Amino acid sequence: MSSLLLGIETSCDECSASVIDAKTLRVLSLATFSQIQIHRPYGGVVPEIASRNHLETVNQMIDEARQQAGIQWSDLSAVAVTNRPGLVGALLVGVSAAKAFAYARNLPLIPVHHLEGHALSPWLDREGDSIPGSQPDSYPMLIAIVSGGHTNLYVAKSPPSQWPTNFLQTACVGRSRDDAAGEAFDKTAKILGFPYPGGQWIDRSSKGGNPSAFDLPRGLNQKDSTDFSFSGMKTATLNLVQKLQRAGELEARLADVCASIQEAIVDALVTKIFRAAQANGCKTLALVGGVSANSRLRNRLDAEWKAAGLTQEPFFPLMKYCTDNAAMIAAAGAIRYQQGHFLKTPETLSLNAWANPDH
Ligand code: KG4
Ligand code: ZN
Repeated sequence: MSSLLLGIETSCDECSASVIDAKTLRVLSLATFSQIQIHRPYGGVVPEIASRNHLETVNQMIDEARQQAGIQWSDLSAVAVTNRPGLVGALLVGVSAAKAFAYARNLPLIPVHHLEGHALSPWLDREGDSIPGSQPDSYPMLIAIVSGGHTNLYVAKSPPSQWPTNFLQTACVGRSRDDAAGEAFDKTAKILGFPYPGGQWIDRSSKGGNPSAFDLPRGLNQKDSTDFSFSGMKTATLNLVQKLQRAGELEARLADVCASIQEAIVDALVTKIFRAAQANGCKTLALVGGVSANSRLRNRLDAEWKAAGLTQEPFFPLMKYCTDNAAMIAAAGAIRYQQGHFLKTPETLSLNAWANPDH
């Protein structure tokens, strides 16, 4: 029997479909339509516009994923779809497409939690030693999900194939109390007039800047805290930018401002990630989500992991799997499928979408 699985992701502003091999997590195809340009004039994602655009592109992405993979529809063994959390109207488009597809072809349907998708992303397209957890003594592993919507730390005591269905509820050892790290990047970038989403602009514009030029607050700085708060840093940035604007110095100091913002966010992330790893006896670390593309964050984790008592270099997803994509959803679907957590015809038609991450 084939082990090919179709994944579909429409939880926010990426409309994505992918075919993977469920046994090896090798990605055969990935077709993604990013709506970033469409939402840019509004400075953020407009839910209604997102749903409408998903509706117009989802079938095209599914078809493209099949063609890129060079397979027939009959080669697929199951369909996985993000059904929580996210913008509910956007999720419903992917869920409806997946339900129709699974029903028409009498295939099993696997509901996937978006964050489990991110958590599985470092395992995509890996071989040999580069497979996370393939070395002896790799667990417990700290998995840090750092995206536009979430900043959550999880302790995985075993490989993903053994994660219980309530993994995200029971393994969480740290989270943001207000904005997510990606949101902090995006909101401070907006203050500086960068286009949405601003994380990559701050990253690029920091080059050559002095990260300690301006001392921006690191929230929840108590010795034992593994939670995050980025709202104070955001307000301090607004005040700083207004002050520099009044003095006519913003342009000349832009690289310093960006480097200081980036350092405040990265510093908080690195400190809490290593603290949570040490407190939970973690041996290894995986960093996932859109912000894992940040160069300063990768460099600091790469440089400091030994001092934090970890036994191996941190694992990062390949760049193309950092931001939202359907391959990671298919990977999480593959794990749950192998554990027997899927719907069969006709109960596939009862699947719903949920905005709430705890559903
Ligand atoms: O994981 P993702 O695609 O979407 C969510 O599920 O939220 O993450 C998007 C986030 C945005 O906030 C974006 O600004 C941020 O990832 N991001 C970055 C970088 N590239 C993307 N943040 C900092 N530095 C980057 N290089
Ligand atoms: Zn995401």
